[in-house]
Amino acid sequence: MDFLNYQHDHLFANQIAIADLAKQYGTPLYVYSADHISKQFLAYEQALINNKHLVCYAVKANSNLAVLSLLAKLGAGFDIVSQGELERVLKAGADPKKIVFSGVAKSVVEIERALEVGIKCFNVESEAELYRINEVAKRLNKTAPISLRINPDVDAKTHPYISTGLRENKFGISYELALDVYRKARSLANINIVGIDCHIGSQLTQLSPFLDAADRILALVDKLQSDNIIIEHIDLGGGLGVCYDSEQPPTASQLVTELKNKLINYPDIEILFEPGRSIVANSGVLITKVEYTKHQDDNHFAIVDAGMNDLIRPALYDAWMNILPEKQPQAGDESFVYNVVGPICESSDVLAYQRKLSVKQDDLLVICSAGAYGFSMASNYNSHPRPAEVMLIDEQQHKLIRERESFEDLWRGEVVL
Ligand code: LLP
Repeated sequence: MDFLNYQHDHLFANQIAIADLAKQYGTPLYVYSADHISKQFLAYEQALINNKHLVCYAVKANSNLAVLSLLAKLGAGFDIVSQGELERVLKAGADPKKIVFSGVAKSVVEIERALEVGIKCFNVESEAELYRINEVAKRLNKTAPISLRINPDVDAKTHPYISTGLRENKFGISYELALDVYRKARSLANINIVGIDCHIGSQLTQLSPFLDAADRILALVDKLQSDNIIIEHIDLGGGLGVCYDSEQPPTASQLVTELKNKLINYPDIEILFEPGRSIVANSGVLITKVEYTKHQDDNHFAIVDAGMNDLIRPALYDAWMNILPEKQPQAGDESFVYNVVGPICESSDVLAYQRKLSVKQDDLLVICSAGAYGFSMASNYNSHPRPAEVMLIDEQQHKLIRERESFEDLWRGEVVL
């Protein structure tokens, strides 16, 4: 998290004091670095510079319009999974021709809208979906560009909840059936086969599962070719991991270079990626305030104002996220090994277990690597308004990119009987 730094024992984001951000916007508060997001995206672009390619940012990781528009301006494409995400990226200025549509449950209405705006490709996840897309396209007198999302049955070696490329996962079309489904797709009048894709999981920290998946996909491309089914693009999904603790995932450049080498015999094929986490995770933090400390028996709790409603990753996946104090401890400060817990009435509302901290009431803590799957998974559970989001524009400037929700927002659309 290269935009975080201590100055005179206080934590800064670029040249802006975390304490000032908390004071101005309140807590809990998400803060992102525009510069970091751009750099992470451009690392993919740079590595692909000599190839026909499209980097489609996975919107689900962080779907704030400011993040999307920043990436759109840099030329990004987008990987969407709902009409909500489609409307967001259009609002943010995305080129429809750079949008790929993933997801296992695309509705008729979603398909209609995607055809109407003219997206680049539907990443089809089942045979039934293929028929539905064909029917909708026929009714609208259009041809739908499709790719089949193939489940390559490789072990992504990540947390089971975020592993998607195994036979037993709900995603994609099984490897064994793929050729057959492509043949069926070819026979459909309103379907245009343009690609093949896979996405095997998230927070992958090793290269080998990516390489294994690419091998399996390329073997299929060869088979398709000998069957006269010509593939224009290969979409290798997202999934590149980031460092939360001590993980050492490959860089985007290493990943892309290894995969590019595999594609050397396919010079005409466009390469697509769908990275989410690796672009935004370490571009963002969540600032939270200590409401109380509580010491009972051997248990020490730092009770903070952010909870699983704001950042669910620790509760849902046992995710370890680094926590930095806003103020560095001074000699003689008392410290304890704390569980950092939120305000939610659930025992699983723990942001971090067993962290040595020297904190007291009203101190600030910064949860690192919270730019991906942080705000985008936030909820209003226990009727907490969702936090504000702020973008660091440069070393000195920052901008509110989402207001903190109001209490009225909590019951918008509801009625009193
Ligand atoms: N493409 C598809 C089809 C996906 O399902 C995903 C993520 C991505 C791309 C982007 O993957 P990434 O590059 O971000 O790893 N909420 C979980 C992660 C869920 C990932 C879901 N799919 C977490 O917080 O760890």
